Amino acid sequence: MARRVDEPLEACTGLDESMRRPSTARMYDVFLGGKDNYAVDRKAAREAEEAAPSIVRAARDNRRFMHRTVAWCAGEAGIDQFVDIGTGMPTSPNAWEVARRFAAGAVVVGVDNDPVVLAHDRARLGGMPIVAGDVRDPGAVIAGLGEVIDWGRPVAVLLVAVLHFVTDQQDPAGIVASLVERLAPGSAVVISHVCSSGADPRVVAEVERVYAGTPTPGKFRTHEQIAGLFGGLRMVSPGVVQVQHWPIDAGPVTALPVLGGVGRVAR
Ligand SMILES: C[S@@+](CC[C@H](N)C(=O)[O-])C[C@H]1O[C@@H](n2cnc3c(N)ncnc32)[C@H](O)[C@@H]1O
Repeated sequence: MARRVDEPLEACTGLDESMRRPSTARMYDVFLGGKDNYAVDRKAAREAEEAAPSIVRAARDNRRFMHRTVAWCAGEAGIDQFVDIGTGMPTSPNAWEVARRFAAGAVVVGVDNDPVVLAHDRARLGGMPIVAGDVRDPGAVIAGLGEVIDWGRPVAVLLVAVLHFVTDQQDPAGIVASLVERLAPGSAVVISHVCSSGADPRVVAEVERVYAGTPTPGKFRTHEQIAGLFGGLRMVSPGVVQVQHWPIDAGPVTALPVLGGVGRVAR
């Protein structure tokens, strides 16, 4: 039976599940000012922004942190292989574009577990292979990239704004440790994560409530817990700081804190 275009979403029984519920990837796209999102995502993003007005700037500053860390890994550390886990919707510049400015032949692979992200990225990100994978299964992610990534040489693994979608039971520190086990000396791990330390607990609870309506509920962690995700990696200066302050002060921090850092596998 044909559907009317003004039919309410709830009445569309055959509608793809991913359009019925907001997704973290598409909400982030809303915050970044992208066009790859639906009405449910914009509604949830609005609710999150009402609870935490600085969330839009926090998202944009987080994205710039990714740019600066990739530039550092390619330019300063001389790394030319990147695995961007939880790569997100197409946004320019992406990790591949930044890495290639500093290392012309850099290989950059995007990994994500959201089918809508995979479809959009594959259609729009020419030159950057996009692979289906779940950060909660690091062994499968590594095995799945065997043909594109040489794990015997340094790799930069980006875990930017993704580990807060992993619950304590799913053991985010253990996930990072499993990835690190497979990394060659000189490799780097980049992490950013929303932080409860210094944030208003009511705002944290409200933002977590909004994200609980997505297939990947979000979890704020303390500064100490986020630092702990790096395990025994050697931290690059200035350590784990608000993303706006890595590697040096690049702007004011947000009321909703996002922490980030880069750890290296010792040579
Ligand atoms: C907030 S976006 C971050 C995008 C990008 N990393 C950035 O920081 O600009 C989070 C991304 O992680 C992805 N994601 C969430 N849980 C994941 C999981 N278990 N495995 C892989 N990707 C995941 C989402 O689909 C989304 O694309």
